[in-house]
Amino acid sequence: MYAFAPNAGASTAEIHAELREAAVAITDNEPDGIANMANVAALLAEFLPDLNWAGFYRMVEGELVLGPFIGKPACIRIPLDRGVCGAAARTGTTQRVEDVHAFPGHIACDAASRSELVVPVIRGGAVIAVIDLDSPLPGRFTEEDAAGIEALAEAIAERI
Ligand code: SME
Repeated sequence: MYAFAPNAGASTAEIHAELREAAVAITDNEPDGIANMANVAALLAEFLPDLNWAGFYRMVEGELVLGPFIGKPACIRIPLDRGVCGAAARTGTTQRVEDVHAFPGHIACDAASRSELVVPVIRGGAVIAVIDLDSPLPGRFTEEDAAGIEALAEAIAERI
């Protein structure tokens, strides 16, 4: 067991910095991408409050396929023209959705989800995965969260 946890009273920026440091530390020298995604999913759930789903979809032969995550069982395959995840993977840009009910084509894997943040993981100019975070709170994810998860995606892109 690893005892990674955010410091009490840390700001959002500090939480993201600590999360990223923990992710870099736990994936250091480990070549297995699935093991690394599993530990990063666990860290996301550990560090970020008010989530009901946190994990990865991987780009496999032109569609997204479910990867390691914490949360309820989820849809396994997402075509790139569907959902928040598909939009992030197709465009290579972060999708920060304040109200998933207002997002055309949103795929409800957990009916409790109200807001969502999906960040592409880019390696060698190509989207190789997305990091998907869901929250039961509307408007849970700020621009600071988006920037923090983008920095995390960059930090682990060579390790998943
Ligand atoms: N809501 C996502 C699907 C994945 S689940 O949230 C885990 C989407 O619309 O792409």
